[in-house]
Amino acid sequence: MSSTKPRILLIEDDTDQAFVLRYFLKNSGYAVDWCSKPDSCLKSAKSNAYDLILLDINLSADIDGFELIRRFKADPLLQPIPVMMVTARTKVQDRVSGLNLGADDYITKPFNQAELASRIKTVLKRKIYLDLANRYRELLENNRDLVLFLNKKGQIEHVNKRAESVLPHLIATERQLDFIDLFDEEFHDPVSSTLYNALNGKDVSPKVWRLRDTGEHQVMVEVQLTPLRHSDQVIGLGCTLKDPSMHEQKFKKLEQTTHGLLEKIKNQNAQLDEIQQKLVMSEKLAVMGQLAAGVAHEFRNPLNSISLSVQFLKMISKSEKPKFHEHLHMIEQEVKRSQKIIDNLLKFAKKSPAKERLDIRMILDQTLTLIAKPLKLHNVEIKKSYNHINLVYVNADDMKQVFLNLFLNAIDAMPRGGLVSVQTREDKESVRVKISDTGPGISKSDQQKIFEPFFTRKETGSGVGLGLSIVHSAIDRNKGSIEVDSEPGLGTTFNIYLPVQEHHEPGDFIT
Ligand SMILES: Nc1ncnc2c1ncn2[C@@H]1O[C@H](COP(=O)(O)OP(=O)(O)OP(=O)(O)O)[C@@H](O)[C@H]1O
Ligand SMILES: [Mg+2]
Repeated sequence: MSSTKPRILLIEDDTDQAFVLRYFLKNSGYAVDWCSKPDSCLKSAKSNAYDLILLDINLSADIDGFELIRRFKADPLLQPIPVMMVTARTKVQDRVSGLNLGADDYITKPFNQAELASRIKTVLKRKIYLDLANRYRELLENNRDLVLFLNKKGQIEHVNKRAESVLPHLIATERQLDFIDLFDEEFHDPVSSTLYNALNGKDVSPKVWRLRDTGEHQVMVEVQLTPLRHSDQVIGLGCTLKDPSMHEQKFKKLEQTTHGLLEKIKNQNAQLDEIQQKLVMSEKLAVMGQLAAGVAHEFRNPLNSISLSVQFLKMISKSEKPKFHEHLHMIEQEVKRSQKIIDNLLKFAKKSPAKERLDIRMILDQTLTLIAKPLKLHNVEIKKSYNHINLVYVNADDMKQVFLNLFLNAIDAMPRGGLVSVQTREDKESVRVKISDTGPGISKSDQQKIFEPFFTRKETGSGVGLGLSIVHSAIDRNKGSIEVDSEPGLGTTFNIYLPVQEHHEPGDFIT
């Protein structure tokens, strides 16, 4: 079992003396091992961590206590263990020899037990201090900061390894260098006043000064001066300089990190902006969807009744004035228009459709066939450029609605003719359909609004402003996306991205 008691190795060849000493030491709170033969004592000392060796000089072997202490002090492992000589030899010469060989104390027999106890205590205390001092020394020597010790005159007395390697040009050549000379002349005033304050026992805050310019070395360092005291008297100063090269490296690293962070934040902000815009749009569309569905249902029945009534009136009033017939005709037209709006509203509010894997080129072609007439009528040419693409996972009717609205808008935008290009292409995880026209384009401010319901620039009666809202909500339902790219005077391009993979998320409904 390990013991926290200080461990003493007692080397004594006299059994009686050893017995008494062991008894006394154990009673005084020490763990004691005893040995009498020099060889076994050396062995035991090496294999156990002793705090103190009590050594008798007169050993009845070839090796006496003096030789043994010589061997202890020559062995780096044993050298730090304090040795106390306990002997009957009273000559001053013996005492001097023992102390010269490295003994930490010397006590002659017969000794007073209280004196022995207090001397052991002192030696052990000294050992604790020495151990601690050694640890501090190790710490300072191997510190990455530059550590300097200054005397009371402000001269450099000792520096750690790091300082020697970083500042060899200032330190190795000149001993007893004035601390102030480490620094650029421009900083001599603050250095000397800080030095003065620290040497007078004042705590001084860290300073940043420039090291003396020695060619390519011109470095700012952080300097901390600390008064070192003995019995309240300042006996010198401890000084740390933050390693300049480390400082620069850290700074560069920090710069890189912050730069990276800034870029990340910028990107994230851009993404957030985009998401927010999409969210605003989809929320608007969702609310509009609800509203549209409600309004459409409310209107459908009365409109049906009006339509039937008009037909009935037409039937029974053949003989009435032409003006009356004209009005009936107008009512009929308006009812048809209202029914068209309602159909559109209901399409807009439509719930999740059945999806299938299909070749979007086929849907494009079917839609183009559908509008062959108006295309010809308005002199609009179609240029197709279909690349090989994957099947997409969408609803066919939705896609027809999407393309129909886009083509009709393009035709409307080019009443005196023009070109519509239709391209399909693979794009990462999706298929991209690009529809461009050579029309007048859309202003940047209008581009923000075109997907909103009821936004139209068309004359009253010719456009309701629901086409692109239907496009947007249909694409949303099908887990795709749409982007507009346009410059006034340079035509308009719509890019539609459609998923190749099936999505299994909830929320397919516009509610
Ligand atoms: N290809 C295009 N070129 C120029 N402007 C366009 C184009 N497509 C859409 N726009 C503009 O966007 C507006 C909104 O289009 P949207 O299709 O939503 O409504 P609309 O065409 O006005 O009416 P609706 O489609 O309901 O009959 C249009 O009025 C038009 O100003
Ligand atoms: Mg339209």
